[in-house]
Parts: sequence; C-alpha cells; structure tokens
Amino acid sequence: MEKNRLIPSPYLTLESIVVERNRQIVIRGLSFTLKRQEIVSIIGPNGAGKSTIFDVITGFLKPLSGRVLFRGIDITGWDPYKICRLGIARTFQIARPFVSMTTLENVVVALMFGHKRIKLQSKDRIYERAREILEMVGLGHKSRTLARCLTLSEQRRLEVARAVATDPEMLLLDEFAAGLSPKAIESAITLIERLRREGLTLLIIDHFLNVTARISDRIIALDQGEIVASGSPEEVLQNPLVAASYLGDNLTLEE
Ligand SMILES: Nc1ncnc2c1ncn2[C@@H]1O[C@H](COP(=O)(O)OP(=O)(O)OP(=O)(O)O)[C@@H](O)[C@H]1O
Ligand SMILES: [Mg+2]
Repeated sequence: MEKNRLIPSPYLTLESIVVERNRQIVIRGLSFTLKRQEIVSIIGPNGAGKSTIFDVITGFLKPLSGRVLFRGIDITGWDPYKICRLGIARTFQIARPFVSMTTLENVVVALMFGHKRIKLQSKDRIYERAREILEMVGLGHKSRTLARCLTLSEQRRLEVARAVATDPEMLLLDEFAAGLSPKAIESAITLIERLRREGLTLLIIDHFLNVTARISDRIIALDQGEIVASGSPEEVLQNPLVAASYLGDNLTLEE
C-alpha cells in the first residue's frame, strides 16, 4: 500500500446521505468527513442508524440520495467487493465467519479473495501472512479450531482478522467490544491503536462509552438518523442532547 502518497483531504466524505429502509427514512441528510489516520466513533441509541451508515459506506445499501467519496473518488452505489478492493474493510455486528472452516482457513480465504496483491504470491506466503494476522489479533493458538467452535470474543477477533487480511486503508468496526470481557476489551483497544500506527483510518461503532472516549479522536452522536452532536469525546459525551437521546435506551453514559 502506498501509505505516503498525497491523499486528497478530506479522506472520507459523506454528503447529504438519505437512506430508506422498509419505506421509512432512517438516515436523514447526513454529512460528515474523516481525515486520514483518524479514529472516529459513531454512538447513538439502538436503531439510530449506525450500522446503516456502515452499510452505505461499504456498498451493502444504496442511499436514496447523497454521495460517498473515498480519497476523492465517488464510490456511491459501488458493489461491496469493489469498495473492499479500493481499501475499505468492515466487520459486521453479528460475526459472519465460514463456520465449517478453521480459523486459519477463514483468514486465508480473505487473503486470497480480498487482498489486492497477495494473490499473486505463493501458497506458503499466503499461509504465513494468515498466521501473522492471527497472532496480531491474539488467535495464533486457535488457528486449527473450527470457526463454529470459537467463543463470541474469539469470533469477533476473527472478524477483525478477516477484515485486516484484505489489506485495508480504512477499517469499519461494528460493535467491536460488545460481549467482550474487560480483558478482551483491553486487547481490542491495543489492537486498534496498533492498526492506527500502521496507517489505518478507523470508524468504530461501540456501546461502551468509556471505551469510546478513550480511543476516539472524535465522536459523532446519532439519533434517529441525524447527527445530534460531534466533536471531541469530552464535548460530545457532556452534550445534553446526547444524554437525552439515550433516555429510555438500555444503557447509561457511565457504562
Ligand atoms: N435489515 C433491515 N431491514 C429493514 N430495516 C432495518 C434493517 N436493519 C435496520 N433497519 C432499520 O433501520 C434503522 C436503523 O437501524 P440500524 O441497524 O442502522 O441502527 P443501529 O444504530 O446500528 O442500532 P443498534 O445499536 O441496535 O445496532 C432502524 O429503524 C432499524 O429498524
Ligand atoms: Mg447496529
């Protein structure tokens, strides 16, 4: 990846995105930008539209109107595999591994079909790189375990491994800390910081607001498909509109 070439600023732009699902508008004219190597979190109550935004950026949903620009390229409506090849990878809120393959095989498949260059290399090199990635996410010792036999926390790490295997420039992590033990959350945070040092830009959805506050450069708070606040973690988490949007939800700002 040519990490140092000049990238147009901003790096990712969402411009007046409107999304309809089941004949209801669920994203209402949403705009924001990301800079290269930023870590930005999207927060908001259940149904706010967080995952829908990921679907739009990665091509799984086409917006009714609006544009998505990545490195200055208009990728609105592109197929997911093309967006992946351009350098945007994601994890899903519900892990989607190939359950009857081993952990290692899952990563090998991602390397073979998602990665831009490695498919030109030897089988040995592909397996070596898959093992490196598994070590990085802390699954080195589970390489021969069937994906269906992994714990929830391990399945989430496998999701990250499969996304990293596509050699992304930008990584979207949906609910990356959900269901993880405090220890597993700490290793996930270490991994995120490492990925940023390696040059990645990260957009993260998470419900643990104390974790979000620690890792994010910026937070975007969403409610009913609209941005209610954005800025530094301190600014956003103290914003009364953000607290209000969580009322009636099953979590608190202290969680
Ligand atoms: N597969 C789907 N088909 C139709 N409507 C959907 C679908 N998934 C989500 N929606 C609707 O789109 C809106 C936004 O949902 P979305 O999943 O993006 O919210 P979210 O912020 O990710 O919520 P959560 O915190 O529960 O994951 C909600 O009104 C939801 O009911
Ligand atoms: Mg969601």
